Formats: sequence, structure tokens, C-alpha cells
Amino acid sequence: MSTQITWLGHSCWLIEFNEYRLLLDPFLDHNPAAPCKAADVSATHILISHGHADHIADAASIANRCHAQVITNYEIATWLQEKHHVKNTLGMNLGGAAKLPFGRVKQFLAWHSSVLPDGTYGGNPAGLLIKLTESLTIYHAGDTALFSDLSMLAREHVDVAMLPIGDLFTMGPEDAVEATNLIQPRHVLPMHYNTWPPIAQDAQAWAALVRERTSSKPHIPKVGEAFRLDHT
Ligand code: NI
Ligand code: MN
Repeated sequence: MSTQITWLGHSCWLIEFNEYRLLLDPFLDHNPAAPCKAADVSATHILISHGHADHIADAASIANRCHAQVITNYEIATWLQEKHHVKNTLGMNLGGAAKLPFGRVKQFLAWHSSVLPDGTYGGNPAGLLIKLTESLTIYHAGDTALFSDLSMLAREHVDVAMLPIGDLFTMGPEDAVEATNLIQPRHVLPMHYNTWPPIAQDAQAWAALVRERTSSKPHIPKVGEAFRLDHT
């Protein structure tokens, strides 16, 4: 079996697994670094870590056009339904897991903030733990700071972790290396950097530190480039 993970810039990823297309944190139309526009992307499911515009901006338009189910926290799910007429949503909260057609999604902790673009309370920010098969678990950290409870993810046997390295609003490169040590993923991919000058980072320097200080394998996909993972 082969799963394709494509970086669409910032914290947005497309995971193609069997007949499913999972879109994480869609932010395309107003992302200067995005390889495509929201209208160019199709999804069966959209997963959102928290309510900030740079993670949710294109969720409603894509969900409504593709009839995709949106999986996020209860506050964001309700807001998408009431304010943006998104029909199919699943609202969750921290620590909760849900069984979905493509696998299991659990909302993990994230140390950050969360307010929706119109000022509505966005609930708690989350990281997304996505178990597609027994041998493929993906963790998208959202916009978190480094915190010691990330070590709880080590027992989940994460195959691919997407971690922010941009600093300023999230953990920076050094903390992302420490987070990699706590999570112990097989592969680690950077995100939430180089979108704008304040979060510019040298991903190659980060990858060198990952190789030096952890046993995880860093990959630096270009925007629009797929990372392919073979698994059972
Ligand atoms: Ni944020
Ligand atoms: Mn963000």
C-alpha cells in the first residue's frame, strides 16, 4: 500500500490514502506560498487543528464544493455549520477519538490559542493524531509550543510527524528538534515556516540538527511536492 502526503504550504497537507483525500488545515487562497488555489483542491475529509485563519480560511468553500466532511473541535464545527452552511461536520474535543471510514482520528493537546476569523471563540487548539492503518500513524502538531506531554505520543508509534518550525507563533527549529526526540516519529516533516518573512527559517539547518540529535528521518518537501510512504 502506498500513501501520498503533499505539502500545500504553511500547515496545509493533502493525504491521499486509498479512495480518501484528507485535507489538513486548508489555507491556500491568501497564502503567498501556496502552490494552488482552494478551487483546485478536492477532498473527501477536511481536518482542522484550530480556528486561526491561516488554518481554516478555505475549509468552508472546499467542504461545500466537495461535500467533504469536516473533522475539528466542537466549537469550530458548530461555527462552520451556522456561519458557513457546512452540512457534514464532526465536532470533537481534546483527548477524544473518532472512528472514521479512513481510520481513527484523535485530538491531542496543543499549547497555543484559538479564535475564529470573526472573533468567535474557537475552543481549544489541538494536534491531530491520524491512524490510517496499524502501520501508518500520522501526527500533525497544529500550532503548538514545545511541551513535555508530547512524550506521550511515543507510545503511539508515529510514522510521520508534521511539526511547525517557524518560531514566533509556534515552536521554532530547536524546539521542534526536541519535540522530535519526545515523539520519536520515523519521519518528520517541517511546516508553518517561510510563508511570510517573520517565520522564515532554514529548513536544511533544522534537518541537520534532527539528524544529529534524534533517530528520526527528516524530509523537506517543496510546496506541491508529494512525500510517498509505502506501508502495509
Ligand atoms: Ni494559530
Ligand atoms: Mn498558524
